[in-house]
Amino acid sequence: MLLAKVEKSRAEAIRRNLFALDVVRKDLAILEEQDSILIPLKENIDAETIRKFGLELIEGKSHPRTYYRSPYEEIRECIEIPDKLKEYLPDKWEKLGDVLVLRIPTELDDYETQIAETYARVLRAKTVCREIGIITGPYREPNLKVIFGGETETVHVENGIKYKLDVARIMFSSGNINERKRMSELECDDEIVVDMFAGIGYFTLPIAVYTKARKIIACEINPLSYRYLEENIRLNHVESKVTAFLGDNRRLQGKGIADRIIMGYIGTTHHYLPKAIELIKPGGTIHYHETCPIDLFPEQSMRRIDNAINGRPYEIISMREVKSYGPSTIHIVVDMRVL
Ligand SMILES: C[S@@+](CC[C@H](N)C(=O)[O-])C[C@H]1O[C@@H](n2cnc3c(N)ncnc32)[C@H](O)[C@@H]1O
Repeated sequence: MLLAKVEKSRAEAIRRNLFALDVVRKDLAILEEQDSILIPLKENIDAETIRKFGLELIEGKSHPRTYYRSPYEEIRECIEIPDKLKEYLPDKWEKLGDVLVLRIPTELDDYETQIAETYARVLRAKTVCREIGIITGPYREPNLKVIFGGETETVHVENGIKYKLDVARIMFSSGNINERKRMSELECDDEIVVDMFAGIGYFTLPIAVYTKARKIIACEINPLSYRYLEENIRLNHVESKVTAFLGDNRRLQGKGIADRIIMGYIGTTHHYLPKAIELIKPGGTIHYHETCPIDLFPEQSMRRIDNAINGRPYEIISMREVKSYGPSTIHIVVDMRVL
């Protein structure tokens, strides 16, 4: 076959021109030699083009081009469902360890099995769960149905931290990744930190692994999350820095014991502010999370803080959006110093 041998210095411009003229074999790879590249040409290239670009033509061989296909493209190509339904296939998913969570629209109900098998194969998941409801209740439990495989316990690794959890029974919000990362970068040398809503260690572990905090007291009310919290403390080798406490954080004892408090919970977080104010030392920092309708921000947060502050002066360090939470609501975190 015919190859155009082009000096590397001219290669990019010539390659573009030849593609525009549709004389390049797109199914074959462009090859590289020391100072030149070899562009596989179609038979229809005319003498005029060869002359115009000063091409040196040689006889040779190329090999089929390996195309990159995204996992979603691969899924769409190989899944066996009617073509007209392919537009409903989810192009986003949550993969925690080797467990995949999919939001499948009802239009695809009849093809749940094919979908689960194909996504599992392409995305290398041992288990696929279908989201059938939203995360609810004080334990923030997911509402999932297993549609492929069976084992829902996994170890999810993020930012070098191992989070073991049962994906079907315990939430893990990928959307909070930046906040977890921010917690790992806190300057909190020698501090006593209280994580009032520790879960499986979402914030406790990054703080324990990456910062120089002296002690983290991690409180969790759900016995299952607490079991994983304890296991994750061991998995990440931070037993000497973290003390876990099973129960309602309002039962935590002490006044002015914490340099820093994390309130990583949404829904009714403000009900727990009086306890946080009691636990925080003068000069300590509280990271207060809540969800807020966009048009009530920041007034709602300020009012709730004012109601709980018990006459103590405080200053707002920052207010930031963690993620959007529905069409007109945001999940925010307020960093405040209580004096
Ligand atoms: C799931 S976490 C929030 C998510 C987390 N911030 C993240 O980054 O993904 C909230 C945890 O607070 C726990 N919780 C709720 N009320 C509590 C209370 N009164 N005392 C202690 N833990 C509580 C829930 O069981 C849950 O595990």
